[in-house]
Amino acid sequence: MAPSILFSLLSLLLVPTCGYVQPLEEGLISGVISDKGLEYAKELLIEKGIASIVMLQLPKIENSAQVPLVGNAKVVLSDITINDVQVNSSSVKTGENGIVIVISGAIVNLSMRWRYTVSSWLIPIGISDKGTAIVKVTGMQVGLTVNLRNQEGTLKLSLLDYGCHVGDLSIKLDGGASWLYQLLVDAFEGNIASAVEEGISEKIKEGIAKLDNFLASLPKQISLDQTATLNVSFVGNPVLSSSSIAVAISGLFTGKSEVLEPQDYHQKELKISAACGGLPKMIKVSIHENVFKSASQVYYNAGKMQLIVDKLPNQAILNTAEWRFIVPQLYKRYPNDDMQINISVSSPPVIQVTYQDIGATILVDITIDVLEDFEVIPVACISVEISASYAVEVVGNDIIGRLTLQEFSAYLKWSKIGKLHIHLIQSLVSSLLKTVVLPYLNFKLKRGFPLPIIDGYGFQNAKILYNHPWIAVCSDVSFLEDYYFGHRSSSSYVS
Ligand SMILES: *[C@@H]1O[C@H](CO)[C@@H](O)[C@H](O)[C@H]1NC(C)=O
Ligand SMILES: *[C@@H]1O[C@H](CO)[C@@H](O)[C@H](O)[C@H]1NC(C)=O
Ligand SMILES: *[C@@H]1O[C@H](CO)[C@@H](O)[C@H](O)[C@H]1NC(C)=O
Ligand SMILES: *[C@@H]1O[C@H](CO)[C@@H](O)[C@H](O)[C@H]1NC(C)=O
Repeated sequence: MAPSILFSLLSLLLVPTCGYVQPLEEGLISGVISDKGLEYAKELLIEKGIASIVMLQLPKIENSAQVPLVGNAKVVLSDITINDVQVNSSSVKTGENGIVIVISGAIVNLSMRWRYTVSSWLIPIGISDKGTAIVKVTGMQVGLTVNLRNQEGTLKLSLLDYGCHVGDLSIKLDGGASWLYQLLVDAFEGNIASAVEEGISEKIKEGIAKLDNFLASLPKQISLDQTATLNVSFVGNPVLSSSSIAVAISGLFTGKSEVLEPQDYHQKELKISAACGGLPKMIKVSIHENVFKSASQVYYNAGKMQLIVDKLPNQAILNTAEWRFIVPQLYKRYPNDDMQINISVSSPPVIQVTYQDIGATILVDITIDVLEDFEVIPVACISVEISASYAVEVVGNDIIGRLTLQEFSAYLKWSKIGKLHIHLIQSLVSSLLKTVVLPYLNFKLKRGFPLPIIDGYGFQNAKILYNHPWIAVCSDVSFLEDYYFGHRSSSSYVS
């Protein structure tokens, strides 16, 4: 690729400079790859590119030439193989119209076999010889421009321009006559250079097509459990700026069994910054609080927010006998009956991302049931408004969180066993929340939410940032050897 081509590749990019990425419409999850991330991705691409080029066999070259004093020589170069590629310097630049990767000063080693036959009227019996040679290419330049577009919810990677230009080429013959050396230099240098250029260009085309196939194979929806599906379709086109690439993902939860009235969770005119509180991180994934709101709605609608408690650390509490002095009416009507407690969320929890944590307001009805002759008889119901905070951290490749009770208020909703004393309600609710509800929820949450691992690459040294109404994971990416050797799956995603 001549320097002029390089220039034309670069000029495809109109480079606007701004600290903020353009507004990403409608996506509730956004991903921003910083310049550090782009640098890492480039290194990875070059590494994979080299791996695909090493041991590449180039097509056989045949040529014949008139050699003074020798005659007409027919030379065949075969088994032309690229043995080694070293890249001295490379760069990646992004702009409104694409991503340009340029490699300069690369060195390529090739080996080949040569064979010649000479016939002339001077030598009636043809002579021939064969041997090997080593070719060293220096100052090779490779460049490509790609662009990313949204195509029906998946990312489409297209190769806009590419090229490869061999700088200098030297040939070292193993054996052979000096005229052969001269012939190779004079007549074949160009052929060998073009073969290298074409071979590498072809590999670029293949490599980009493979990457594009990989992007096309990413799921548009992730099934989380029996209840919910997360929509991970890409929304809008990726936004390329001079220092980052930003993508937006729908991020809406939907229920599996029911058709929901679609609610307007979309957030218009949002500005996503690539900043990670001064930390130089490769990627930043931001999640809008509406993602949690839609999840809350889906699990609520599916009736998943209910808990029946029929075992307690102090089991005696779940018998009316224990209550005979506190709530005499209960014992009088249902003497010595077992009880259970039905804790049921009465409206979708309200979830907000603040500047410190995730806050949740949960309205629950706590119904006290008496079990008499295999019959469940609700006897009283207490309404509770719970404020809890949820602190998130990243452990390994999972996001895990811990719910902490902030405060609650409770009142008696209805009762068939007379009035309950306010202190009794308070202490009952308080001990239920502390000994049953929160431990139960924290146990459920302990499993965590796995961050995506793609082909063995996952998050490393991730940090959580709260920035109302967004929560962000700022992270580096690296090859997770433990994961890879533990699972050995090529493209694991959340399942
Ligand atoms: C190419 O071969 C030479 C010797 O033949 C060796 O010194 C060099 O390390 C090899 N690799 C590159 C990229 O030059
Ligand atoms: C590698 O690049 C540096 C500058 O980036 C240059 O000084 C050096 O000569 C190059 N080396 C080779 C072997 O091309
Ligand atoms: C996922 O979100 C995209 C973008 O908002 C939308 O076009 C698509 O219909 C959604 N898919 C499902 C299955 O809801
Ligand atoms: C628990 O209580 C809710 C209302 O608070 C009710 O809809 C539900 O049926 C009850 N569940 C059981 C198993 O009693």
